[in-house]
Amino acid sequence: MKLVHTIEDLRAALRPYNSPAFVPTMGNLHEGHLDLVRTAKPLGDVTVSSIFVNRLQFAPHEDFDTYPRTLQADCARLEQAGCDLVFAPSEKELYPEPQGFKVQPPAELADILEGHFRPGFFVGVCTVVMKLFQCVFSEAKGPRYALFGKKDYQQQMVIRRMVQQFALPISIVGGETQRAPDGLALSSRNGYLSESERAEAVQLSLALRALARDALAAADALPQHLPGLEARALQALAARGWKPDYLTVRRRVDLQPPTPADATTAQSLVVLGAARLGTTRLIDNFEV
Ligand code: PAF
Repeated sequence: MKLVHTIEDLRAALRPYNSPAFVPTMGNLHEGHLDLVRTAKPLGDVTVSSIFVNRLQFAPHEDFDTYPRTLQADCARLEQAGCDLVFAPSEKELYPEPQGFKVQPPAELADILEGHFRPGFFVGVCTVVMKLFQCVFSEAKGPRYALFGKKDYQQQMVIRRMVQQFALPISIVGGETQRAPDGLALSSRNGYLSESERAEAVQLSLALRALARDALAAADALPQHLPGLEARALQALAARGWKPDYLTVRRRVDLQPPTPADATTAQSLVVLGAARLGTTRLIDNFEV
């Protein structure tokens, strides 16, 4: 496996290949990322991963400065998973001047849920992903693949829409959320949890599963029942000491609330949640 730090070296290393399969990350890798790399491996003729903690997607009060930077351990894990090439640029390399040009995703998709609680987050994500795509795919002549985990459900949807609206010749491939044995979704931010918080953390996924069950039981008249069900789920988590941002049932197709006109089926819905436990903000989701 080769490690490069500059766009020039990345492009030179990719020149002999036609069909990169790309896994962008912010590092501090866990089994979820490695699963994406293993999924990427048979897709293209070279498997590439990037490690870059993207300042643009963090608000000033968020954890940009403390986000774990673990390049050496990440590279060892990537190599074991079969990655061929790692691109780990410095901030100066990727943003040599302030990034004035940005990719602005549509409000109806990007200003709800995560975007509502983290204003500017998806502008930062889309901007860096677009830039990374330019770096990784510029030499490609064959099919191009980029892989994103379903744990960041809304992120994956925003990126799919970006690729579609900009007619980028890239296939977006989703990876299933990887979970700890107790059901907690794997996340780089789980490392922030104290021992007692770690034991409690699975309650977010349990609350979402309970909400999904309640939603299915009320499927005949879901739009009327939903506000009550969501409020109950929020209260239950808050009573355990969490500070929930949202626990909600949405249409998979556009992440909008189901309307009376929708024929509500389990296959049409996703439950999504975000909540703070102590100082750590966790997100999770289940396709119902
Ligand atoms: O999901 C992530 O780790 C990041 O949002 C991404 C896609 C690597 C962009 O910085």
